[in-house]
Amino acid sequence: MKDTPINFEIVKEKINQSKIENVGRASIREIKKLIDDIEKETGEKFVRMEMGIPGLPASEKGVEAEINALRKGVANTYPDIQGIPQFKDEVSRFVKFFLDVDVDPEGCIPTVGSMQGSFAAFITTSRMYEKQDRILFLDPGFPVHKQQLQVLGQKWETFDVYNYRGEKLRDKLESFLSKENICALLYSNPNNPSWICFTEKELKIIAELADKYNVVVLEDLAYIAMDFRKELYHPGKPPYQATAARYTDNYILFISSSKAFSYAGQRIGMMAVSNNLFEKKCPDLKRYYNTDLFGRAMIFGTVYALSAGVTHSAQYAVAAMLKAANDGEFNFVEVVKEYGEKAKIMKKLFTENGFYIVYDKDENDPIADGFYFTFAYPGFSGDELLKEMLYYGISAITLAITGSERLEGIRACVSLIQRNQFPDLEYRLKKFNEHHSIKI
Ligand SMILES: Cc1ncc(COP(=O)(O)O)c(C=O)c1O
Repeated sequence: MKDTPINFEIVKEKINQSKIENVGRASIREIKKLIDDIEKETGEKFVRMEMGIPGLPASEKGVEAEINALRKGVANTYPDIQGIPQFKDEVSRFVKFFLDVDVDPEGCIPTVGSMQGSFAAFITTSRMYEKQDRILFLDPGFPVHKQQLQVLGQKWETFDVYNYRGEKLRDKLESFLSKENICALLYSNPNNPSWICFTEKELKIIAELADKYNVVVLEDLAYIAMDFRKELYHPGKPPYQATAARYTDNYILFISSSKAFSYAGQRIGMMAVSNNLFEKKCPDLKRYYNTDLFGRAMIFGTVYALSAGVTHSAQYAVAAMLKAANDGEFNFVEVVKEYGEKAKIMKKLFTENGFYIVYDKDENDPIADGFYFTFAYPGFSGDELLKEMLYYGISAITLAITGSERLEGIRACVSLIQRNQFPDLEYRLKKFNEHHSIKI
């Protein structure tokens, strides 16, 4: 029997009962279930860092608009697949004001969460040209994207950008794109799980090579404007959210309402398809759609087939939140800054107790404090560390399931941790450090 903060025998028993072969390779939802079971049996509260659930209340502006729309009776009517006009106009204004790019309302399409946007994009981009059928991931990344491709039976390529920052990214990217079988490349920025942010130089490289090899840039902005090193809320004025869209006209932006507006429960996100891509003619699309125009194939082919549009009332909610943000009346960035503040404190607690940050730089700059950070402990693989930390009441996921080559690493999500849990976290990390001497 070991003197661990959480009853050693119970944790061991619950891990065995869970039938998870290797806790370090379990999915986020499997870890969640395991911790729910341990908490229930021990009555102890974990420091839960496994899942990216927003830890803030949903934006009131959205809730109000959604209730009003329901009261007005939208629930009985099918929404147009391409989205309601207010939604489309506000998305178009939003990308202009916060990214400084021009996307016509026509290309701004609601999706059932940003997840449906990526699913639809994987399907449609891989059918544009017969010979280009693979997706390239600039990893580490969100594991569900690969699950989507697995479900679709689609192929992908991946590399970890850790060793290819700055100018080194060019040759590495070219080594994949020059095979001429990639249709689209995807990355998130800020990045889940590592919270690295590509620099303007890197985004320019991505855009240049995407143009050279006729590859669509899929830019996942699930954490838009959350690089808190810069003040990114002042509609229509620089600095703007970093984006490759300022350097290419061949892109789709995925913007989630889940994190920036704490609206995850309503499952609504948005896709902004660049004007050039929206109008693009690809005869090979005719193999799957009754049109050769990308924008039409996306809306009236793929999105129609997936869900025939997006919940009517939720579109009113997003339109209202974006309108307020665009009009300078709703500083949504200020609200979510709390994540960055917490990350700063938590990273300090980890590093004071023998842990180190795995992805720690954007080229030469220290990375931002935000929704996630990555850590490791000398002498442990990520799998071993994750399992061991469960006995100390700390849960997270390993980087191994994110396409990272840093197999020693763990991803911590700060969103659900309350500030009054910091003393517990500190105590548990100290205990861990005491029990595991670092051999140099
Ligand atoms: C990088 C990334 N993309 C997409 C999503 C999904 O967003 P949504 O809730 O809008 O489907 C997440 C959620 O955690 C994410 O981290």
